[in-house]
Amino acid sequence: SPARRILIAGNWKMNGLRAAKSELRGIVAGLDPTLQSKVDLLVCPPATLLAGFAADVAGSPIMLGGQDCHFNASGAHTGDISPDMLKDAGAVAVIVGHSERRGDHGEGDAVVNAKTKAAWRAGLLPVVCVGETLAERDAGDAAAVVARQIRQSIPEGATAQNLVVAYEPIWAIGTGRTPTPEDVAQVHHAIRAVLTERFAAEAQGIRILYGGSVKPDNAAILLAVPDVDGALVGGASLKAADFLAIARAA
Ligand code: G3P
Repeated sequence: SPARRILIAGNWKMNGLRAAKSELRGIVAGLDPTLQSKVDLLVCPPATLLAGFAADVAGSPIMLGGQDCHFNASGAHTGDISPDMLKDAGAVAVIVGHSERRGDHGEGDAVVNAKTKAAWRAGLLPVVCVGETLAERDAGDAAAVVARQIRQSIPEGATAQNLVVAYEPIWAIGTGRTPTPEDVAQVHHAIRAVLTERFAAEAQGIRILYGGSVKPDNAAILLAVPDVDGALVGGASLKAADFLAIARAA
């Protein structure tokens, strides 16, 4: 839909020391007016780099985001980071419910739901991730699993402005394997249907990103799929040239 601006988001995961600033600067420099008119760009570096990066994106439309947040605003949660801290460091968005958080840290839909609300309270844009395992895909359950995650991970009150959804089939993450455009279309359509059931007309404006082995050479095909409103890019977001090439493919 022309109403949904393409969003290309980079998830740096646990990669990046301060020297990686050169890549961020490359992205800032590469975002020319033509590209700016077509896409929104979001970079989610490790939290240690956020504040330092904020100065480099000042004056550029590039947005910064965190990769996770706690569902509480503050308190005794050693090692965790609150949405307000992310915002204070320069973030405007935060990824929640990434499969690596769900898997490595046992986060279920209820926790993701609480984190989404916490992000809203801090004025951050949550990018809520969903996606099936290979076993669920092979059993023909991908759309049903993702629909359930959408129902349970997203709180009441979602709007076109306050929510981004990312569909990341777990078996496609970091593997170089991607679903066919038809498979992507089917799941994104299912996500749109559940969002419509829950949020009526707002659902038409909610961006649904595809993530999982998005690279410069497959980005055009994946981004042309109906109901794909952008990409959540892992490995290929670490190099400015690749990230920009993906954005240009939109
Ligand atoms: O959040 C993005 C991600 O999980 C995809 O990673 O490396 O397959 O692009 P990658």
